[in-house]
Amino acid sequence: MNISIFGSGYVGLVTAACFAEAGNEVICVDIDEARIQKLTEGHCPFYEPGVDDLLKRNVEAGRLRFTTDAKAAIDHGLFIMIAVGTPPDEDGSADLRHVLTVARTIGEHMKEYKVVITKSTVPVGSAEHVRRAVNETLSSRSENIEFDVVSNPEFLKEGSAVEDFMKPDRTIVGVDNPRTGELMRALYAPFNRSRDRVIVMDIASSELTKYAANAMLATKISFMNELSNLADRVGADIEAVRKGIGSDPRIGYKFIYPGAGYGGSCFPKDVSALSKTGEQVGYNMELVDAVNAVNHRQKQVLFDKIKAYFGDLSGKTIAIWGLAFKPNTDDVREAPARDLMEALWGAGAAVRVHDPEAMDTIRACYGEPENLTYCNSPAEATQGADALAILTEWKLYHSPNFEQLAETLTAKVIFDGRNLFDPAVVTRFGLEYHSIGRPV
Ligand code: UGA
Repeated sequence: MNISIFGSGYVGLVTAACFAEAGNEVICVDIDEARIQKLTEGHCPFYEPGVDDLLKRNVEAGRLRFTTDAKAAIDHGLFIMIAVGTPPDEDGSADLRHVLTVARTIGEHMKEYKVVITKSTVPVGSAEHVRRAVNETLSSRSENIEFDVVSNPEFLKEGSAVEDFMKPDRTIVGVDNPRTGELMRALYAPFNRSRDRVIVMDIASSELTKYAANAMLATKISFMNELSNLADRVGADIEAVRKGIGSDPRIGYKFIYPGAGYGGSCFPKDVSALSKTGEQVGYNMELVDAVNAVNHRQKQVLFDKIKAYFGDLSGKTIAIWGLAFKPNTDDVREAPARDLMEALWGAGAAVRVHDPEAMDTIRACYGEPENLTYCNSPAEATQGADALAILTEWKLYHSPNFEQLAETLTAKVIFDGRNLFDPAVVTRFGLEYHSIGRPV
């Protein structure tokens, strides 16, 4: 099938590469010429396991092409997917500007029937805005060409996006007529595996499903983070509690890991946008607001522990392992490591940082100030540091040389925002170990 995808960001690119891999003819469009040039040469602009290989193979096979020519892309695709960014507005609601610009471009160039699909995470009602924008542009050309709009949110996780796309739990499709539903079923048939994974529903429900999924997951995390702070105060061990409740299949083990707060480009943005949607229709999303507030507080917890330990932090140096908001990505958007770094700087401390993938993205945010030292290995980051803080659970941080850490860290103390170690093991080496929701 012929597919055109607007936006060569994370969602657009993974979607384009995976559809091409399934044998479709895919064109990916972006206004950023330098990016398109790089992609044409087979270079993925971000770190995501598996995408490089898919790009190379499908570009070589001629199934995947990149262009800045929107008109050519609109001519090409029966399915036109909008996967451009929806950054949060100042008030937390999703900014539809880029989505609607693409919708107008589609209206400007289309010559025959198209299925116009929103893939970006957009608030309830957005598909109708897209329909209106396409229609208005068509009318301004005095054209009356038929098209359908579809809501088809993505559920990709950074770090396992290719796997998530190729083997989805579900594919959500929001349509307003059965014929478009059938077209979408056919499009996703290669990814069904043993049973049909496509769930067809009305457009508003599909749009809300995306927010509901992310807000539910964020709720689980904030709930556990809140409990971890209570555990700290009543002398309980949150890891024991986690295992205790996770064994109930109604609760489950997934997404109940306490930590230094959730980050990334999705949860913080989508939780705020959902609250904003409630506000716009006069309904107060109390639980969703609390999830957000708990997360903001949680991002300070590790700093509070460091501050409580040292008292005065001026002149201290803290090693930080992990900058990305989670492992297997170089994404540092809303990463708890940034909150910690900024709080430490505010208190007069310096940081020595290590991350296997996200050093360049952090450099792009902060440059090279005096109180930030980029280190090539976890061990180098701890050289000359008073304490170690761990913010991302990259595999290479899971079994460090504790003996060496006890020799290197001046204050012999670790602050672990991911509960990576058994406290009994760490303390055996003469190190003090502060983690999340566990007794010291
Ligand atoms: C999230 C959703 O998981 C995807 O299903 C969704 O498609 C995506 O957002 C999106 O809307 O595009 P992602 O942001 O890549 O995916 O990352 P997650 O793996 O969900 O992690 C989000 C944050 O929660 C991370 O900071 C992680 O460390 C934190 N987390 C996760 C916890 O603190 N505890 C947990 O138990 C799980």
